[in-house]
Amino acid sequence: MARIVISAPLPGGATEALEAAGHEVVVGASRYGMGRAGLLESLRAAPDTQALITLLSDPVDREVIGAAPRLRVVANYAVGVDNLDLEELRRKAIVVTNTPGVLTEATADLSFALMLDACRRVSEGDRLVRRGGWHGWSPTLLLGKRIHGATLGIIGFGRIGQAVARRAAGFDMQVLYHQRHRADRAVEQALHATWVSLDDLLERSDIVSLHCPLTPETRGLLSEGRLRRMKKGAVLVNAGRGPCVDEHALAELLAAGHLFAAGLDVYANEPRVHGSLLGLESVVLAPHLGSADEPTRAKMARMCVESVLAVLAGREPEYRVA
Ligand code: DGY
Repeated sequence: MARIVISAPLPGGATEALEAAGHEVVVGASRYGMGRAGLLESLRAAPDTQALITLLSDPVDREVIGAAPRLRVVANYAVGVDNLDLEELRRKAIVVTNTPGVLTEATADLSFALMLDACRRVSEGDRLVRRGGWHGWSPTLLLGKRIHGATLGIIGFGRIGQAVARRAAGFDMQVLYHQRHRADRAVEQALHATWVSLDDLLERSDIVSLHCPLTPETRGLLSEGRLRRMKKGAVLVNAGRGPCVDEHALAELLAAGHLFAAGLDVYANEPRVHGSLLGLESVVLAPHLGSADEPTRAKMARMCVESVLAVLAGREPEYRVA
């Protein structure tokens, strides 16, 4: 029997499955997870913990890792692993797993929801109606950007970026993409996607959608200078990671009318949203909902459970990152 800490209640019976396998499970009380302080407290109180299921908002750094000398596995309830000190985990031979693949379609759906909303001003219209500001149909009310036939620039052409490109086909969009390594020609052909340089993508796209992981290379990728390169009247969607975008510059370019709108699911300092974005009607702000559909979140929990059970039983987990 091992002691397992789960940072927050998970959907899909994760706790029961681990208990049924004979383990002792401690689950954090808050739906937002234990966070660094909570993890430290829990691990210091029970240093024999062997497995940890973490949220993307839980920083697992040297100190947290050091508080659990018997730790064998960290199963991150996310595909992104930028909250984990992978180097330290590797150094201590602690297995790290994530939840790849399963959240691809859900995140691509949400990206498209943000794109449609930002371009067609749905949330802005909703706010107008609710505050009693709608006085009837008007030829000039809340005119938006056309999505059908627009040029979509996808930054990061992994699973999620490609799933966004598949959806774009239904809107007859022209798809440009950028990532360091060009995708297979077969993938490009199937998705009618054209590789271009980042500058080219920014200058040619009506809508830019960001889907790269957060790494030292992508932190600050859309700097002020790069955002300025976007077409006048373009729209930015970010369902990747907040720190990839200079939020202050984004807010300024939106306020100045250089950019038409933005649809954001992720932020540099979650759950805090940059104050200057909060005041803009032209920004759709989602609370990091990319993978938040019921089957996806339940499957992510099952993947974490499988990973933990595999490592504790001395087996190789399927979704190993480190
Ligand atoms: C992830 O898993 O990294 C996503 O951001 C969750 O929505």
